[in-house]
Amino acid sequence: MKLAVISSLSKRKGADALILPFFLKGKAPFAEKSLLSLYQKLLKVGDFTGKKGEVLTHYPEKGVDKRLILIGLGAEKELTAEVLRRSYASGLNLVKEKVKTLNVVLPTTKELPKEEVMTAAAEGLLLCAYTFDRNRSEKDKTPSQAVFVGGDSKVIKKVEKICEAVSLTRTLVIRNADEITPTYLGKVAKEIAKKSPSATAKVLGKAQIKKEKLGLLEAVSRGADQDPALILLEYRGNPKSKEVTALVGKGVTYDTGGLNLKPTGGIETMRDDMGGAAAVLGTLQAAISLKLKVNVIGVVGSTENAIGSKSYKPGDVYQSHKGIKVEVSNTDAEGRLVLADALSYVQKHYAPKQIVDIATLTGGAVVSLGEEVSALMCNQPSLAKKLIEAGEKTYERLWELPLHEEYKKILESKVADIKNSGVRKASAIQGGIFLERFIDPKVAWGHVDIAGTAFPDSRKPYHPVQATGVGVRLLTAFLESCAK
Ligand code: BES
Ligand code: MN
Ligand code: ZN
Repeated sequence: MKLAVISSLSKRKGADALILPFFLKGKAPFAEKSLLSLYQKLLKVGDFTGKKGEVLTHYPEKGVDKRLILIGLGAEKELTAEVLRRSYASGLNLVKEKVKTLNVVLPTTKELPKEEVMTAAAEGLLLCAYTFDRNRSEKDKTPSQAVFVGGDSKVIKKVEKICEAVSLTRTLVIRNADEITPTYLGKVAKEIAKKSPSATAKVLGKAQIKKEKLGLLEAVSRGADQDPALILLEYRGNPKSKEVTALVGKGVTYDTGGLNLKPTGGIETMRDDMGGAAAVLGTLQAAISLKLKVNVIGVVGSTENAIGSKSYKPGDVYQSHKGIKVEVSNTDAEGRLVLADALSYVQKHYAPKQIVDIATLTGGAVVSLGEEVSALMCNQPSLAKKLIEAGEKTYERLWELPLHEEYKKILESKVADIKNSGVRKASAIQGGIFLERFIDPKVAWGHVDIAGTAFPDSRKPYHPVQATGVGVRLLTAFLESCAK
């Protein structure tokens, strides 16, 4: 869907639908008289009061638009960006399959800055307009254009770039694991790098992974037919500065569990196990197209966790890139192994000031926070604060879990430096505790577990089923806050 702006309602061309916002029983938040009287009429009849989430289609006898889509924003005093995202998306969901062109009215209000109102409404519409239907014979329909009344084209362009990156991430997660292989993710990184002279991509293949002694990534990859990859996508948006932020994504393109095979009921969604990697690639695409003034190294550790005669084995000990020896107590705790080597490699070769890793890491994160909130673990409060704020702004929310000393003993091994899995208790935290061993304590580090938020069972107002694209808007907002 393409976005455009016009200066006033009277300048509009007729569209298949006009989206019109209302506050709860309040004044109509726009000036057009003909539309105002409609609102008065509806209020009198009582069918539409402007409640949050309320939507209604009206077929006007006069005027240039075929349909009016009335959307309720709730009480003006309680207006938030998320109410706007959801309300505009709900309005679009009413007619998504039927309309090609939209006119969009934005509410005038003192509760939020104009730029935020526009951003949120445009995000709601664009994220909702996303379709993926390759697996169905009948194609999904979605509008081709939305024209914003009184919008600012700069703001709209920015939203378009961010949502395009979210779409890339969603599609990578939704498509078959047999297509989205480690090698394919490497190609995507190279495509992204081509878009800017400030970006470069490098992919370490199977032989280099061995040569660089990325022993944990290598171990996980052994059972797979597909070659593993360590993908490095670098963007220097602020060449004057030496500071680098590393974003590290888990790119397990299919997680069977390995020899500790996942059961039926647990395995079917495991092509989403590269959701962190897809979020890192999407975020770099967004940072590059927005020309953010930051230096970022995106790292993806990618492999399949397959089962076969070559698979790595429960009970065996493997040496990591950092030199730490790891007892593999469970081959299904593979994500932390892949990430550990990626984290250690990026610290050695890029000396980042701060690192954020993002991964579909634990069932524990799903159990504790569900589909709504991702788990955060962090070794520095100021970084945690920045990430949480980016989460509130984008509504890709984070909730912090502790990394207290006492948890460390759960992963003590009798035979090696550490083991990769412990007990059922505090399972999301154990993921963080394991990774922390591979972080230089002088480096600020945050770990985001998106196991519950990446791959929803059912659609939401502006999320399709099976892929939210979570992480892209969060990390892009985080990078923006670092650029200031
Ligand atoms: N990829 C899974 C985590 C996951 C679970 C993601 C559900 C999305 C939805 C991860 O590799 C895994 O299997 N984790 C295990 C670790 C355990 C064996 C220590 C888990 O959390 O059960
Ligand atoms: Mn696993
Ligand atoms: Zn996994």
